[in-house]
Amino acid sequence: MTPIFAGRTVLVTGGAAGLGRAHALAFGSRGAHVILADINPAGMAETRTQVEQAGGTAEQHVCDMASEDDITALAALVLAQHPRIDVLINNAGLHLGDIARGFFGLGQARWQHYLAVNTIGPMLLAEALRPALAAAKGLIINKSSMASYQPATAYGVTKACLNVFTHAMASQFAADEIRCVGIAPGLMETPAAKDGVAEENWQRLKAMQMVKRQGTAEDIANLAVFLASPEGSFINNQILLCDGGNQLRGFRI
Ligand SMILES: NC(=O)c1ccc[n+]([C@@H]2O[C@H](COP(=O)([O-])OP(=O)(O)OC[C@H]3O[C@@H](n4cnc5c(N)ncnc54)[C@H](O)[C@@H]3O)[C@@H](O)[C@H]2O)c1
Repeated sequence: MTPIFAGRTVLVTGGAAGLGRAHALAFGSRGAHVILADINPAGMAETRTQVEQAGGTAEQHVCDMASEDDITALAALVLAQHPRIDVLINNAGLHLGDIARGFFGLGQARWQHYLAVNTIGPMLLAEALRPALAAAKGLIINKSSMASYQPATAYGVTKACLNVFTHAMASQFAADEIRCVGIAPGLMETPAAKDGVAEENWQRLKAMQMVKRQGTAEDIANLAVFLASPEGSFINNQILLCDGGNQLRGFRI
């Protein structure tokens, strides 16, 4: 890969698996130093190995995005070592199980946990890293979802709220020339999604698909690469749907 991000630093939350790992590889293999933050140290170690095998460098930090203390500690550590962060990818998220099935009966504690991880954590981390993002005139990417459009699950609600935060963050961070953009993937074939989504839904998706192939983690990582490159540098304050056109067909899980 051409090292178009040489000398740049990219922080990826949820970098231990799936889309986060694909983001780490996409930026690491193009010369960026990658900072991984996740609750899964073994998964992060595997991502780090893959980044290094692709010629990049990476470091890993355990951070629970539901914990303000963890976010504060991560930011302090990162700011001490990295005066500039070029891209913050708020990718960590809960998306399978009750959060994607239920809406009623979840109770206050579960709703608060889902909102903490998927919605509030991304904003708190960006706020804590602001000096380094400002130094780089950087980019914040919030990982939304196709489920944020007309949400019918707790998951969709957390991501719709994240879209609102994305617009608010674009406005609030603009004074430092920091952009904020949301990426809303359709159903992408990550190991977690493959395990967690019923086979009948994958088949239904395939039958409805406008682009006749399954969406991959690399499709999403490539969009992030574009947004972070000079060619994407005038895009701000948008939620970009990357679903092969499925929204038009009304695919819902
Ligand atoms: N795969 C899809 O089809 C799809 C579609 C739309 C949106 N998304 C979103 O993309 C993101 C990644 O999806 P994925 O398919 O790669 O999922 P995944 O489950 O493979 O990866 C999620 C990562 O987030 C980490 N994580 C979970 N809770 C965390 C917490 N509290 N603190 C820190 N890290 C935590 C996990 O350990 C994991 O490494 C999620 O935000 C998801 O909602 C995925």
